[in-house]
Order: sequence, then structure tokens, then C-alpha cells
Amino acid sequence: MSCCHHYALTPGGDAAFAVDVSAITFGPGCLREAGDHAASHGMKRVALFTDPRLAGLEHLAVVRDSLKAAGLDVVVYDEVKVEPTDASFLAAARFATEGRFDGYVSLGGGSVIDTAKAANLYASYPAEFAAYVNAPIGEARPVPGPLKPHIACPTTSGTGAECTGIAIFDYVEKHVKTGIVSKRLRPTQALIDPMTTYTLPASVVAASGFDVLSHAIESFTALPHTQRAAADRPSLRPMSQGANPWSDVGCKEALKLTGRFLERAVASADDREARDGMMFAATLAGIAFGNAGVHLPHGMSYAVAGGVRDFHAPDYPDDHPMVPHGMSVIVNAPAVFRFTADACPERHLDAARWLGADVAGASLDDAGERVARRLIDLMRTTGIPNGVGGVGFTTDDLPTLAAGAWAQQRLVRNAPKAVTEEGLGMLFGDAMRYW
Ligand SMILES: [Fe+2]
Repeated sequence: MSCCHHYALTPGGDAAFAVDVSAITFGPGCLREAGDHAASHGMKRVALFTDPRLAGLEHLAVVRDSLKAAGLDVVVYDEVKVEPTDASFLAAARFATEGRFDGYVSLGGGSVIDTAKAANLYASYPAEFAAYVNAPIGEARPVPGPLKPHIACPTTSGTGAECTGIAIFDYVEKHVKTGIVSKRLRPTQALIDPMTTYTLPASVVAASGFDVLSHAIESFTALPHTQRAAADRPSLRPMSQGANPWSDVGCKEALKLTGRFLERAVASADDREARDGMMFAATLAGIAFGNAGVHLPHGMSYAVAGGVRDFHAPDYPDDHPMVPHGMSVIVNAPAVFRFTADACPERHLDAARWLGADVAGASLDDAGERVARRLIDLMRTTGIPNGVGGVGFTTDDLPTLAAGAWAQQRLVRNAPKAVTEEGLGMLFGDAMRYW
């Protein structure tokens, strides 16, 4: 049902697209391979990054023992902050600089993997912190050269951080969530072991699963790469290059897997087929969004996560209010896709069908509502809060939320339709309640 003109060339648009991806090893038990892979990358002295909760779990012992069995010198850094900040990135960078490591292994969610990317960067090419941070918040200075090898081992089926060159953090001093983006940050290898998800609580599987789902549908509906202005030099082509035929392949399969397995993976930790399926969906969606880029649901999510007042999600750290990343994304998504559907209705209808919606008899005019309805059904059956209002916001917050999302221009510009700051406020209004 794809439109044959979706990638028609446009004047000044980029006719080519690039495929960059981490090397990937996927399968139950593959964490035990960490030592052999690290040695093959030339590592001798390894920084093993994780967070305080994972530090006491078996998965860390498996990775550490494997590295040691391969004859490597291993130092564990278990102080990664969940939802990292500029201060926590800098603390990790100090550890990396002082430790003189020749390689990195990260075991955890996106926070851990992103922190290892940043530590590797600042230890390899020291600079003022703002130097590599996205413009206009930072200087967006290009990373000068290759980083040390990094093996990333995700423990949630969500972020896709193991496949991307993006490191997201809370810039506390500037009150904004932003990132460092460079192909050089992409981990050398991803070691993806679905067994790490077998003990995750339902709410974590739900939130991270919706992150996967949204990576896939946002990348699939992103501005086509042929409509993005070509870079001045080919080597400057951005990593988030817009939808392209390569990312479409991963998006399609990730949406089908998510439609089939998300509810089952949330419903039962014993449903290994479903949890394995969601892990593979996360990998495919991570590859896709690492090449295409996400857009408005993620751009809006940073305003939701950054503006949280008193929301606490079950089974997440309780010491401070927090909207988990996937939850902060998906509460915006039905409103966004109702808005973007007329830019590429075939794609929205395809996504709805792959997610399991019955689209028999649907016209292109129905596309936005069909995909929104399917998302809302999935949110309700998996215990996701009812929209932006469900995580504690009211209509009084609309201007602040809109301003926060508007600051995410890298993502706003990757949407298939132009939107103003006022328009973002209207989208948040539509996202306030769904049922
Ligand atoms: Fe995400």
C-alpha cells in the first residue's frame, strides 16, 4: 500500500541515503560472549558500565566473568544515574579519563549505554562539556575521530541505544533535555540477550515496548530523506536523515512484532516467545530510527518528562517523580498521528494494519483515526496512563509543554508536516485525555 512517489526526488533534496549500523549479536545467553568479543576488538583494560540496581544482578556477573575469563582487566562503574544529567555524564567521564581504559562495555538500559558513550567521548577527546552538545543548546562540534571500542548490552527491550549514535541527558543547568549526536558515538557492537528481559516487571515492559513501537512508527512516517535539504558535503549527511527504504524494512517488521507481542509480553513474564519477540522488535526499530530519526512524539516527550511534578510509575525508582521515557512518548502519539496522517496516509494505514488494527474498508481519510484508535487500545490493555493528563498535566500547562517541545527542533523538523509552537500546544491539548 506504500505510495510509489514517497521517495520522489525534490529540488535541493538529498537523493541518497546512508546505512550505518552497529555490528549485532542477538540471542538468549549471548552475554556470555562478551569477553571473546571484547578481546577481538583489542580491549585489554575495560570499563564496565552499569547502574546501581543491575550491579547486584546475575547479568553483570555473567558479563564480568566472561571478560575476566578472556584475560581482560575489568573495572566496574556502577554509579550511572537513571535519566542521566550533565553532572552524571561528567562524573562518568572523569572515571573514564582517570582509568585509562582501551575499551568500554555497557550493561543496562538507555541511561547506561548513553553514559558509556559520553564517557568514551570526553575521555577520548577532552573538551568543555557544551562542545559536543546539540546546537543551539551546545556548540555541536563534530567528534574529531573514532572513539575506543564499545560493546553495548541492553537489558530492556526499548531504547535501541545500542544501535544509535545518540546520548540523551538532562542538561540541568539549562533546564532542558537534549543530547549529543554523532555517528562516532554508535557502539562498535551490540550484544543483545533477550534473557535480560525475562524478569522485568510488566510496567517496564509496557513503557519500553511503547518506546519501540514509537521508534518504528515515527521513523516510518518521518519526513522522506528526499525532502530534506542535501548537506553541504556528503560526509555531513545527518544521522537522522529522514525516512528511507532501508529504515522502512526494520520499521515494518518491528511494527508487526509489536502488534503481535506487546500485550502478551506485558501480560506474562513467562511468555518467552513474546519477550524475545519484543527484544528483536527493539533491535530492528533501533536500527531504523538510528538511520531515519524520530519526530514529534519524541520531541514532545522531552517536555513531558522534563515538566513532571508528582507522577510516579509503578516499578520505577521511587525517590523522585518521573515519567518513564516510553510512557512520556506514547501519551503524545495518538494526537500526533491524527495530525500527521494527511502527509502520508498510506503509511499511517499500513502502520495501523501491521499493529493489528482491522483496516478493512478504511479510506485514506480514516488513516489517522485508525492508527490513533489502535494505539489507544494498546495503551488501555497494557496499563499506560490516559494521555498527558494521566501523567499529571492540565490545560494550564499547554504553553510550557509547547515551548519545551518547540526547543527540540532536530525532531520537530523531521516530522512529515510543518508545525508551529502554537500547533504543538494544540497537539498537547488533543493528547490531554483519550478515553
Ligand atoms: Fe525513544
